[in-house]
Amino acid sequence: MAFANFLVDLVRRITPSFGNQLAHVTTYTRELPINLERMYENAIDWEHLPFLHSSTFSEIEVIESGDWGWKAKAFLTPKSRFNSMTLELRLDKSKNRWITKTLAGFGKGTEIWTHAIPLGKNKIKVIVDFYVPKLPSALKAKYAGQYSALYAQLYDEDLWMMAGRQAQLNKLDQAKTSTSELSKVLGKLGEIKENLPLTFEFNHQSYRLIEMNDTLIAHTLSCPHMLGPLKDANVKEGILECPWHGYQFDLKTRKCISGQRCKLAPAPLIKIDTNQMEVVALQGKDNSYN
Ligand code: FES
Ligand SMILES: [Fe+2]
Repeated sequence: MAFANFLVDLVRRITPSFGNQLAHVTTYTRELPINLERMYENAIDWEHLPFLHSSTFSEIEVIESGDWGWKAKAFLTPKSRFNSMTLELRLDKSKNRWITKTLAGFGKGTEIWTHAIPLGKNKIKVIVDFYVPKLPSALKAKYAGQYSALYAQLYDEDLWMMAGRQAQLNKLDQAKTSTSELSKVLGKLGEIKENLPLTFEFNHQSYRLIEMNDTLIAHTLSCPHMLGPLKDANVKEGILECPWHGYQFDLKTRKCISGQRCKLAPAPLIKIDTNQMEVVALQGKDNSYN
């Protein structure tokens, strides 16, 4: 499939151009229940492509990035030498838009212009226009269908991240003004063990209780990078991986071990009340082993 798409794209790229150099292929529009800040943040976030959009992108190597956008070499999924491309995204907040260009490789010359229009406090509309140079008219409908389906999927995935992050930010605001509990009984030891892993709320924060080396420990459900959800994050040999950008954390030390400078927030200490045979979460104690 990758090779077939590569061939179609190669024919387009070597076709001599006549008339309109950059044909408009289609427009995708969608209303989203988020604010502009989340949307801009998402646009310049190159790191999430191979994780949040893993069925579309398999790998990304950033060349440069900043508040202006980013430039990177990316591979589609599955990775092959026929689907590498150099992408550049430039954000222009003054015009409420960002333009993504394919500078080299598969899809070279393509431009995707996205305008984001605020409609309310937490409501925007995105209007995405796709331009492909030298596209034979026989291929226009095929490209239009592919782009519309792809962007519907990408925005479904992005919405999960943007709305999830906003919900976490709101929760953090709430926690600032709330009184805190010193301890909380999570349940009877036997029942708890049968239902692991399980999540619980403590002092307006969410945690997951798991068993590691025969010890019950809790970890935060919020990633320190951009508050990604760790509720269903994979844990392998004590290492937890965030689904949004793939940062990895050692649950014993809470340290990030994938090279970024961040650390999991402390979680309550988990104790077993041996008289009552209950599992108890205690505030203010770091649950890491050392
Ligand atoms: S939110 Fe980015 S790695 Fe977790
Ligand atoms: Fe995205």
